[in-house]
Amino acid sequence: MLELVNVTKTFNISGNKEDERTALDHINLQIEPGEFVTIIGGNGSGKSTTLNIVAGSLIPDSGKILLNGRDITKIPEYKRAAYFGRVFQDPMKGTAGDMSVLENMEVAFLRGRNHSPIKWGFKEKDKKFFIEELKRFDLGLEDRLNQKVGVMSGGQRQALTLLMATMRNKPTIKMMRRDYILFSGLPEEEARKEFDSFYDEKKLVLDEKLKTASSKEEKQRYKNEFEETIRNKFDLTKQILLLDEHTAALDPKTAKKVLELTDKIVRENQMTTLMVTHNMKDALTYGDRLIMFHLGHIILDVKGEEKKKLAVDDLLKMFEEADKKAESK
Ligand SMILES: Nc1ncnc2c1ncn2[C@@H]1O[C@H](COP(=O)(O)OP(=O)(O)OP(=O)(O)O)[C@@H](O)[C@H]1O
Ligand SMILES: [Mg+2]
Repeated sequence: MLELVNVTKTFNISGNKEDERTALDHINLQIEPGEFVTIIGGNGSGKSTTLNIVAGSLIPDSGKILLNGRDITKIPEYKRAAYFGRVFQDPMKGTAGDMSVLENMEVAFLRGRNHSPIKWGFKEKDKKFFIEELKRFDLGLEDRLNQKVGVMSGGQRQALTLLMATMRNKPTIKMMRRDYILFSGLPEEEARKEFDSFYDEKKLVLDEKLKTASSKEEKQRYKNEFEETIRNKFDLTKQILLLDEHTAALDPKTAKKVLELTDKIVRENQMTTLMVTHNMKDALTYGDRLIMFHLGHIILDVKGEEKKKLAVDDLLKMFEEADKKAESK
């Protein structure tokens, strides 16, 4: 579960009190694993700030961010990166224009896996996997693997960014251990013990099996089984997807395509998702929960049937009322 507890963030560019802006005012929010939340709200209402705080690119002035009950408020962005996939409004942001489709995917694939990409070769089977993934997008990207991303349309770049943000690369055992200790929600010592004793136990079994193995293939099979057992128990990399108006710069038809793709990826992988949009129809169509921000506060939080009953007009009325209330203060 992802939780924001009493999160407050104030910006002050000049240092003068009158320039102070409260972007988030004591925000409390609990998001269940696998929940798909759409976020709406006027300009400057605090949507992007919320996503930035969750991802760790901003640190709140007060309050906490919890992931699986674990306080991650001060964990730096790069350490959380394996858990958060992000796509921004600007198609230029998520991909490197002077690199090819394949090179971009390679970088995304290696990110969070190992700090040194050099150590980790890019394998033929990885390439095959990427091509299969790209085909699902139906944007013809699989035929343009070696083309520079810079010459592609915004929609193609955004689709690629989405894929790169959600590519689930298998972490090494060392990384799994590190992250399990960090993010499992158990006290560190307990998490470490649990990991190590399970690992040692399975390793003994593996060593016995390796002694009896008669071929290289059989040995490899045992090693793979061993890794899979560890992974099934300890791999927490069920990513949280953060989308900040990621279809806003696209034409309506491409935006729809990318949105449908988003929905598909989110559902298939049961990803916890926060999607900011200014399109109220999209906010109602997609996701299972809808949140409305207004001047750093959450003024609406609906899910399930209640969300389904809402229409764009209802949301517009709520915006108007919130504005009136704020003006009369
Ligand atoms: N880095 C920053 N420095 C100064 N002020 C900031 C910064 N980031 C955000 N703010 C201010 O915080 C408030 C909330 O901004 P935020 O970007 O979260 O709004 P938003 O809801 O994402 O708006 P939009 O719909 O325009 O993207 C605004 O008043 C904004 O000017
Ligand atoms: Mg924003």
